Amino acid sequence: MPSSGLVPILTATVVAFAIAVGALELALTIQEPAQVAYHAVKVPVILGVMSRCPDAHLCETVFDQVLHQVSDKVVLQLSFIGTPNASEPDFGVTCMHGPEECAGNVHELCAMKYAPQTQWWEFVQCQNFQGRGHVGLPDTAFKCANSANIDWEESGVGDCAGLDGSGKGDEGVKLLQESVKNSQLIGIKKSCTIIINGKQVCIHDGTWYDCENGHTVKDFVRQIDEEYQKLNSDDTEV
Ligand SMILES: *[C@@H]1O[C@H](CO)[C@@H](O)[C@H](O)[C@H]1NC(C)=O
Repeated sequence: MPSSGLVPILTATVVAFAIAVGALELALTIQEPAQVAYHAVKVPVILGVMSRCPDAHLCETVFDQVLHQVSDKVVLQLSFIGTPNASEPDFGVTCMHGPEECAGNVHELCAMKYAPQTQWWEFVQCQNFQGRGHVGLPDTAFKCANSANIDWEESGVGDCAGLDGSGKGDEGVKLLQESVKNSQLIGIKKSCTIIINGKQVCIHDGTWYDCENGHTVKDFVRQIDEEYQKLNSDDTEV
């Protein structure tokens, strides 16, 4: 038989242990979301576009609403459509809507490279909002950089695209040529083509087609959520 003094000591030990375990569990619970966020893999989304194309503007308007819901789950990229052409003196690429479109593509590619996603996306939305005839013009680029809080001269965007806003900066022209080749490589032929996690899911060219899983904001959000779940399910987590 234990002496009467041992019972309170045992009880105190058990209580202390329970408190310690509880604290540890609490600590783990608090830590978990941070770990998940740290390891989370974002869903690559590619829009195959041309900067003066009405179909591209339509897709980008739809995706602006998509991003409002899932921006933290997405790595967005624009891939430009054009024809490599050594006879083109300024860009080495023929753009369907003329050299101004090539310049507009360069502005957007340089913004993509040197500004965070929320800012370059705002820059693209602003360019579209000016109207197709203004995309690619220096004043449009300056104005939209300003409204997207991008410092044209200090951010690297201006150096890339040409400080004069011409879109003929060496780096930007190279980015355009690479982007056009990349679009061909991954099979993008139409503006606008939507690719979610490597799979072409929809095209808008005059009208929506090849959109097996729908073409509304809700449909794109759902498909992104599904891919995000797949990419971040337990068995793929490190
Ligand atoms: C290549 O560029 C030249 C010069 O602008 C143009 O005349 C020609 O039509 C272009 N070729 C193609 C295939 O776009």
